[in-house]
Amino acid sequence: MADTPSNMPEDLPPQELSARLQQANRQLHQSEKMAAIGQLAAGVAHEINNPVGYVYSNLQTLEHYLSDLFRLTDAVERADSLEDLHQIRKSIDYEFLRGDLEDLLAESREGIERVKTIIAAMKDFTHTEEEEFRYADLHRGIETTLNVVNNELKYRAQVVRDFGDLPEIRCIISQLNQVIMNLLVNAAHAIENTGTITIRTRHEGDHVTLEFEDTGKGIDPADLSRIFDPFFTTKPVGKGTGLGLSLSFNIIEKHHGQITAASTPGQGTLFRIRLPIEQPGAVSDE
Ligand SMILES: Nc1ncnc2c1ncn2[C@@H]1O[C@H](COP(=O)(O)OP(=O)(O)OP(=O)(O)O)[C@@H](O)[C@H]1O
Ligand SMILES: [Mg+2]
Repeated sequence: MADTPSNMPEDLPPQELSARLQQANRQLHQSEKMAAIGQLAAGVAHEINNPVGYVYSNLQTLEHYLSDLFRLTDAVERADSLEDLHQIRKSIDYEFLRGDLEDLLAESREGIERVKTIIAAMKDFTHTEEEEFRYADLHRGIETTLNVVNNELKYRAQVVRDFGDLPEIRCIISQLNQVIMNLLVNAAHAIENTGTITIRTRHEGDHVTLEFEDTGKGIDPADLSRIFDPFFTTKPVGKGTGLGLSLSFNIIEKHHGQITAASTPGQGTLFRIRLPIEQPGAVSDE
């Protein structure tokens, strides 16, 4: 094997080399984003499938009920006696049908609302073209992301919200959502049976902190210093790319913040993010 990859000749001038590295870094960003969206799409399809399934079956039941009700209203037109109407009303079990109709409609509305929430969350989440720093509500970002990753979390983790009062901070919220997603998905993967993920938010002076604490299997002390390295993963081949945390690190750095991890094997892991409320050099737009 050659010492230098063939697409990165070593005799390039430093500026050219640096430009190519930046280009490679951008492509990495983009492909990681696409991979994350692909993974999410599968989860979201699963989440939407369930409410859509029962709304569909409710519609079929409603069709039957409607034809029964039409039988009754048609009979009103041509009934010879009140007795006939009573007979039909009895035969279609009007009382049951009425109660069930109300339940079916309420349940269907709930299902559609769930689908709407998921779609709104996806939209919020993927503001992909958004590259500008704007004031945004981190709690909203957390809720959006929780909605999007619900499928990964719901069977394993109870999510506890320990939220403080947060001011809006100047950030690129779609990118912070990606960080939150990586941390939540990692936490869920670390939990072997069932456990808890605690999300803590605090405002302290000119910055805010976000903590994601899980009761998962923890990180080996020998690995702890490598988890933010690109391609470092302990997951089986084909499972993890090892890019989630390095991407998150870059995003937090771009926001002039810090991300750190502490872990006790067998007990759990705590990721802590510190973000300034204002960005240095940003021009006020609000
Ligand atoms: N909450 C956590 N608990 C235990 N180990 C963790 C946790 N978060 C990260 N890790 C460790 O850090 C490694 C790197 O995480 P990272 O998110 O960068 O990549 P990945 O999860 O392996 O793959 P990808 O995110 O690309 O699917 C993981 O493989 C895992 O060993
Ligand atoms: Mg990961």
